[in-house]
Amino acid sequence: MRRWAWLERDRAAFMANLGRMEALAGRPLMAVVKANAYGHGASWAAEAAQAAGVRALAVATAEEALSLRQGGSRLPILILGAVPLEVVADLVRAGVALTVHQAAGVGDLAARVPAGCRLDVHLFVDTGMHRLGVSAEEALAVGAELGRLERLRWQGIYTHLATADSDPEAAERQLARFGAVLEQLQPRPKLVHALNSAGIFRLGFPEATLARPGIALYGLSPFGEAAPPAGLQPVMRLLARAVQVHRLQAGEGVGYGFAYVAEAPVQVAVLPLGYADGYPRQAGGRAEVLFRGELVPVVGRISMDMLAVAVPWERPLQVGDGFTLIGREGGRQITADQVAKWAGTIGYDVTSGLSRRLRFENSSEERI
Ligand SMILES: Cc1ncc(COP(=O)(O)O)c(C=O)c1O
Repeated sequence: MRRWAWLERDRAAFMANLGRMEALAGRPLMAVVKANAYGHGASWAAEAAQAAGVRALAVATAEEALSLRQGGSRLPILILGAVPLEVVADLVRAGVALTVHQAAGVGDLAARVPAGCRLDVHLFVDTGMHRLGVSAEEALAVGAELGRLERLRWQGIYTHLATADSDPEAAERQLARFGAVLEQLQPRPKLVHALNSAGIFRLGFPEATLARPGIALYGLSPFGEAAPPAGLQPVMRLLARAVQVHRLQAGEGVGYGFAYVAEAPVQVAVLPLGYADGYPRQAGGRAEVLFRGELVPVVGRISMDMLAVAVPWERPLQVGDGFTLIGREGGRQITADQVAKWAGTIGYDVTSGLSRRLRFENSSEERI
């Protein structure tokens, strides 16, 4: 059953973006596919990443990791977030690596590993972001403990940059702190990683064995620019068809609160998606969509399940006509970053916020 609001994704674009980021980074990738691959579908992204030769995947939660395994992904998976001890045994059985992000509780973690098994761990060093991570001062002692505990295999060490997109000098200071920790580590774990998408574009870290991009793989900008970064292509499209058409006279309103009132005769197409689908409510009255290759405005308030667009009176318009909310039509393109700008947020928020109510359709099916 095909709803008249749906998503499409472009595997070739995703594969090309993986290749481009790997070339830019100059090392293999740990592809970040948390939050359902930023809304693009984690299993889909994992399968393509494996086909593209990606070395490992990163997710945020235990559920994300286990669902990738259930979906058949065989790549190494690292959970970047904090994990409740109750799921450790399941993660060991699934062959998933965990992040050790604080000094306390490392022994408790090892105690949860079933006898005869080993849990892969990466040590997260907080080099200034003050989210997760052991401090640079603690890192050596915690690393030594990881090395001693038989049921743990200390596989990797990493840090995360707070300002690679906005303040490269502060990011360089974080990398220098991380480098100083690495210098004192003898022996070092096999995997070392630090750079996210913005870091790969703007910075270097020769000690790293992997790069850890997310957003750029989906063809979106880590710098909040509306245009895709050079050499990358957006992967996702958001499309809809008009379920009803109105011909309004001047003075007639549309939607809740009549936030839009026609100043002159205009046609209004109602599209069957709203903020419950993740199209941001804050974009109401500012956003535009593509209709037959031209931009037309979203008018009035965005409802939970519907939004309205205004189409000039003289243009042919009927129920079933197609609209592109994110994607390219002809020579014009609306990126998720552009939608984010209309909504006062970032592209990450827009794509990862699209709800499961929107389904991915095969791009080779009937097109608008
Ligand atoms: C720890 C960590 N590494 C890497 C990434 C990927 O960052 P980006 O999507 O900006 O490339 C994220 C994303 O938030 C993250 O939290």
